[in-house]
Amino acid sequence: TTAAGQETTGGAASGELIVLGFSQVGAESGWRAANTKSIQDTLTKENGFDLKFSDAQQKQENQITALRGYIAQGVDVIAFSPVVETGWDAVLQEAKDAGIPVILTDRAIDSEDDTLYESFIGSDFVLEGKMAGDWVKEQYDGQGYKIVELQGTTGSAPAIDRQTGFAEAIEGTDLEIIASQTGNFTRTEGKTVMEGFLQAHDKIDLVYAHNDDMGLGAIEAIEAAGLVPGEDIKIVTIDAVKDGMQALADGKINYIVECNPLLGPDLAELAKKVVAGEEVEKRIVVKDLAFDQEAAKEALPTRQY
Ligand code: AHR
Repeated sequence: TTAAGQETTGGAASGELIVLGFSQVGAESGWRAANTKSIQDTLTKENGFDLKFSDAQQKQENQITALRGYIAQGVDVIAFSPVVETGWDAVLQEAKDAGIPVILTDRAIDSEDDTLYESFIGSDFVLEGKMAGDWVKEQYDGQGYKIVELQGTTGSAPAIDRQTGFAEAIEGTDLEIIASQTGNFTRTEGKTVMEGFLQAHDKIDLVYAHNDDMGLGAIEAIEAAGLVPGEDIKIVTIDAVKDGMQALADGKINYIVECNPLLGPDLAELAKKVVAGEEVEKRIVVKDLAFDQEAAKEALPTRQY
């Protein structure tokens, strides 16, 4: 047992720190960096937490190892943002058997057993995709646009849901997705995939990227091909992190749907409740905005991430 403010290895009686094991997806994007910062800045000793943090480098097996480590250490609560949707039942059952509550942040899991976690806090990714698609439809329906899609990590909730939402929104229009490939949510792969798209297709009117970073990579590929991003090829992305918003304000991106990464404060509150045995909501939906070029110019000076 330790006094408040000191390192502790378990137990959450009053005055002790809550030991929270967090398994992060990786460091793939600007969004992820802002999300990690929010969690590390909030789950501090001053705020009652002893945070154990690990980075899975976008690999599910690393995350499972991290979760097993937290179970073995007997942490008070586990939180994680699952790299992919499926394949979690066994390890989450182990946490449940050990009496360790689990909170999902940012990304959902696909499981029939919703007793394996206490709560899921994060954005509605289908809605984000739909907001992006609705804007594209409003702007370009009737012009026969050929669209290429840069998908997020294969099997991840945001990649699956953002594809679904966008496809639903443009259904029944003359807008057509002519190619769709994963860029793994990174700038480098976004650029490489876009280079391939540009080589394979004579006519590309619009890029729909599942995050800003892949859109920023696509900008590099488009410019290298001697074309003007935002004009010759329109670009729509999701996240609204600083670099994305700057490119939007500069006219290189045309529209961005936000995905708020600042989940630290809500996670802290949830974790305190869960450890205290209080009832919590099973699903907490984070609200997102959307920006066109003018709105980005206005928002940029006061943007937190
Ligand atoms: O899960 C959220 C997504 O993961 C973000 O939109 C993307 O940038 C990140 O890599």
